[in-house]
Amino acid sequence: MCGIVGYTGKRDCIPILIEGLKRLEYRGYDSAGIGYFDKDKLAYIKRKGRVTELESLVEGGKIVSKTGIGHTRWATHGIPNEINAHPHFSKNRDILLIHNGIIENYQALKKILINEGYKFESETDSEVIVHLIDRFIKKGYSFSDSVRHTLIEIEGTYGLAIIYEKEPDKIIAAKKGSPLVIGIGGDENIIASDINALIAHTKQVIYLEDYEIAEITKEGILVRNIHDIPVEKEVIELSMTVEEISKGGYSTFMLKEIFEQPDALTNAMRGRIIVDEGRVKLGGLEGIMDRLYHSERIIISGCGTSWHAGLVGEYMFEQYLRIPTEVEYASEFRYRNPVLSEKDAVIFISQSGETADTLAALKEAKTKGALCLGICNAVGSSIARESHGGVYTHAGPEIGVASTKAFTSQLVVLALITILLARRKELSLTDGRNLLTEFQSIPDKVRKILELNNQIEKIAEDFKNSTNFLYLGRGYNFPVALEGALKLKEISYIHAEGYPAAEMKHGPIALIDENMPVVVIAPKDSTYEKIISNIQEVKARNGKIIAIAIEGDDEIEKIVDYVIRVPDTIRIFMPILTVLPLQLLAYHIAVNKGLNVDQPRNLAKSVTVE
Ligand code: AGP
Ligand code: GLU
Repeated sequence: MCGIVGYTGKRDCIPILIEGLKRLEYRGYDSAGIGYFDKDKLAYIKRKGRVTELESLVEGGKIVSKTGIGHTRWATHGIPNEINAHPHFSKNRDILLIHNGIIENYQALKKILINEGYKFESETDSEVIVHLIDRFIKKGYSFSDSVRHTLIEIEGTYGLAIIYEKEPDKIIAAKKGSPLVIGIGGDENIIASDINALIAHTKQVIYLEDYEIAEITKEGILVRNIHDIPVEKEVIELSMTVEEISKGGYSTFMLKEIFEQPDALTNAMRGRIIVDEGRVKLGGLEGIMDRLYHSERIIISGCGTSWHAGLVGEYMFEQYLRIPTEVEYASEFRYRNPVLSEKDAVIFISQSGETADTLAALKEAKTKGALCLGICNAVGSSIARESHGGVYTHAGPEIGVASTKAFTSQLVVLALITILLARRKELSLTDGRNLLTEFQSIPDKVRKILELNNQIEKIAEDFKNSTNFLYLGRGYNFPVALEGALKLKEISYIHAEGYPAAEMKHGPIALIDENMPVVVIAPKDSTYEKIISNIQEVKARNGKIIAIAIEGDDEIEKIVDYVIRVPDTIRIFMPILTVLPLQLLAYHIAVNKGLNVDQPRNLAKSVTVE
């Protein structure tokens, strides 16, 4: 995910682009760049780091241009450095392009272009687009037809803005999968990834739809689709204020990130699943596949929420791969002088890729000769770079301190690794297909659960004065109980414990009385009956029960106080669904208490100290 902005009109575009990029920085901030006209030639300025770094280079009217494009990047392909920052130039430096999204077939296209003599400056997937456009222009197509033909060749997602030296004062924009909105001004038009970047200039907007291409000049906007058919666009009048939308219309980043999960999970799966062949493709593991496959033991390490994802991974690997798997707190692992050899694979999970404990544990495991993999969200982060191989979660930047979409995306990646290896082991084609077909339905099931937001908000009202909570789950859902408790602790400051449900009678049951809410994750799996017995045990001691149950389980509501229903799925995917009500419950309890959920006290998003 990244932010794009473009301006053409009567004013100097540079301050407008910089201001717009600042408003889009929540979408990514590892590098930034602008492209503009320097007299009649194209030029760019790019910098690693945040938009303010870029701003310092263009301050004071050093550059003046009436048309320009800007990009704030959240790297998906290629580390965050100046070369990989957007815009990207064509061969003759006469086309400049910025891109938001992922080009899935970029490797195949890159090969063809290199064979034809194109040279690539960056490691990004985006750069193939600008060379393809150049190739069509060289064949005699117009600028806009070259863009259109290029879009037919690329697979994946894009929000694009392109400028061309021979057609100055024009921006071509296109969209598929990534958002793009055009703001209509008087004698000027602005494009952006979202209205944050243009609301200060105009309230009249056009939303581009997938496969639409817009030619934008200060005089007007011409939209057609990828098949060259003109499209009439409706102009929408915005009623929002700048303040309201800086979090995309949500009151907090955490809520926004919770609601982004259907898209985040789709991104984590994108281009990696081949349903017909019942198989998974993960480019970042290709070089180390044999070693991983022959590992005699897998160790998963991380901290906090990432450690919880690791616990779910342990269930996945042991069920489908029959490889002994252990999960270790990175902080303990690094100091324990762990017994490791080259027959072990260690998977480090980290949203930020910068957590000091996890990074140190990785270095220790590398020293001891183990194969080291990273599951990270931040591209080019230290853990991603230090690992022998790995898989990005592609969840987009997570800003709220409490991890939500990063967790569910980590679960998606762990499931992908499981299915990839399982197919090389004993999983049949039919079973692989069935698993992947169900897997693809998960984002929609997540969407359905998020519709329960109001119901969960009401439940939360009853618990804002609670001082303790117990979370119970079994098997795959035991780590979800831990994660639910951590979410509540972090943002509402209510003490909460997660337990394997059967362990309750070995101690925690002593805590239960009418003041102890107990959240029980009770899907209809092989341990359902046992969970029901645990619920009865809590009831007998007057505890209040909130059950997370499967749609259609009508029995459970007779014995619990509240039921939140999630759609059914295969066991391996269940934690992705059952954790969602727990995120929302913690969220609403904290909001009810008037707390700052995005920046809870004492915490930091990325813990880069010991
Ligand atoms: C999650 O809600 C927490 N903020 C925290 O436990 C976090 O998961 C942990 O610090 C690990 O961070 P990482 O994934 O960036 O390594
Ligand atoms: N895939 C592009 C890159 O890595 C665009 C990034 C994005 O949209 O997040 O540069």
